[in-house]
Amino acid sequence: MSDILSHLDNGVLTLTLNRPAKKNALTKAMYCALTEGLARASADEDVRVVVISADGADFCAGNDIDDFAQDLPLFQDDNVDHDDMPVFRFLKAITFFDKPLIAAVQGQAVGVGVTLLLHCDLVVAAEDIRLSLPFLKLGLVPEAGSTLLLPERIGHQRAFAWMALGEVIGAEEARQLGLVNTVTTREGLDEAARAMAHKLLKLSPSSLRHTKGFMRDPEKLWQVIRAEGAVFRRQLTSPEAQAAFLAFLAR
Ligand code: COA
Repeated sequence: MSDILSHLDNGVLTLTLNRPAKKNALTKAMYCALTEGLARASADEDVRVVVISADGADFCAGNDIDDFAQDLPLFQDDNVDHDDMPVFRFLKAITFFDKPLIAAVQGQAVGVGVTLLLHCDLVVAAEDIRLSLPFLKLGLVPEAGSTLLLPERIGHQRAFAWMALGEVIGAEEARQLGLVNTVTTREGLDEAARAMAHKLLKLSPSSLRHTKGFMRDPEKLWQVIRAEGAVFRRQLTSPEAQAAFLAFLAR
């Protein structure tokens, strides 16, 4: 079975992270499948709303660390077209995606498992969420446009504190900060996301697309993502990142 499940039901395409044994850490294959899912959703007018959800206890433990280790030479190679790497293709697809995007989040969300939420238009969360951004602790920099999106969303000081001090944010705090729209039980999560999607289905697709278009500047965001990405790639060889990854892989 694929690590990304795709299911179209009555205008709602659900893309489900399906690697629960590894806390849904995102591999290259998963980025590719998500990118294809978003491309399909863009092209198919029967798809009106996309929901990103995850199987298992946790939403996503960030980028797969084995992949980071394996791809280090590619990340460092200036002759490689980094925009064409699976993670950047996915980030580009989500940045330019122009239909409503809903996330349904439970349990732990780490790294890109959090920063991808900043690209979603609506986020429904289970009451057990724990959101963390360990980039600085790992000697890296925040990515996926989060250095632009997060301060815009919650203010500079709170964004900086979260990124630099590495606190874990729970459901109520996330709701108060405006990072999630609603908090529900774990059991009620899928239904809550479906209910949101069904409300959107009642609206005009073109009104939604134009509204989303006015609210975001994907070109600017993509330039920030590329700039963050260039530094992120260099920082992968920082002593802190190397030590953290080796320690994780040696467990
Ligand atoms: N990449 C690859 N594998 C990962 C992973 C990741 N990012 N996160 C978790 N896993 C794997 C673990 O290796 C473990 O696999 P195993 O059972 O084969 O040993 C499995 O998922 C369960 O993880 P575990 O660490 O035992 O769960 P936990 O509940 O104790 O801790 C986390 C959960 C998310 C706190 C912890 O797994 C973690 O810190 N992961 C790394 C997060 C990270 O730094 N991501 C990159 C950000 S840039």
